[in-house]
Amino acid sequence: MEKRAELYRGKAKSVFTTDDENRFILHFRNDTSAFDGEIIEQLDRKGEVNNKFNHFIMTKLEEAGIPTQMDSLLSDTEALVKKLDMIPVECVVRNVAAGSLCRRLGVEEGTELTPSTFELFLKNDELHDPMVNESLCESLGFASQEQLAEMKKRTYEVNTVLKKLFDDAGMILVDYKLEFGVDVDGNIVLGDEFSPDGCRLWDKDTREKMDKDRFRQGLGGVVESYIEVARRIGLDLS
Ligand code: C5P
Repeated sequence: MEKRAELYRGKAKSVFTTDDENRFILHFRNDTSAFDGEIIEQLDRKGEVNNKFNHFIMTKLEEAGIPTQMDSLLSDTEALVKKLDMIPVECVVRNVAAGSLCRRLGVEEGTELTPSTFELFLKNDELHDPMVNESLCESLGFASQEQLAEMKKRTYEVNTVLKKLFDDAGMILVDYKLEFGVDVDGNIVLGDEFSPDGCRLWDKDTREKMDKDRFRQGLGGVVESYIEVARRIGLDLS
């Protein structure tokens, strides 16, 4: 597989074209950003840890019948993925209140959300990823009603699979963000990544934060914590 031009450079990952017109390469960098890129730091081994973590999770989701972009691991920091036309909308499910939900609605962190909530945000750094709804997404041409329904269904299916995976490993899946794209056949497929950078995970007993909030809140031990999450779900990254 020949790596060609950098198609897109995000805050923590880059997407490269390849000599196969239906495959891209995702390169996970050590860059770690918070607050819409206001803070960016290099965290040793984070690219490798997130790449392998993401491959592990996407494989589990595929096994559960959820179509994902993942093809294969290429190197410590690179994965081969199916080409998708990404939909610029972030899907967020919350099982427990934290983060922007608490700030927005004054809900106490840790409040159980029953049933789990589903939110949509426009992927736009300059506008600070504003919240949108299905009507806006449809009218502004981000996604069709059918695509949005499929994204919501798949996002909840991911919750069923991963809540159990993390619960069995002594952790609470508090919330997470997913991004979807459209493949060459027009199917909605889970893209981007699932790693502790894009979800919240708390230790079930101590409620210790084990995700990117460690970075956002200056708690330290960020990559070490990601490695511990991986170890608990059966992935040795040490
Ligand atoms: O900030 P907020 O509480 O809305 O985030 C909800 C979840 O989505 C968190 O797990 C956060 O890490 C993730 N998220 C993300 N990328 C964004 C916004 C949120 O990974 N741009």
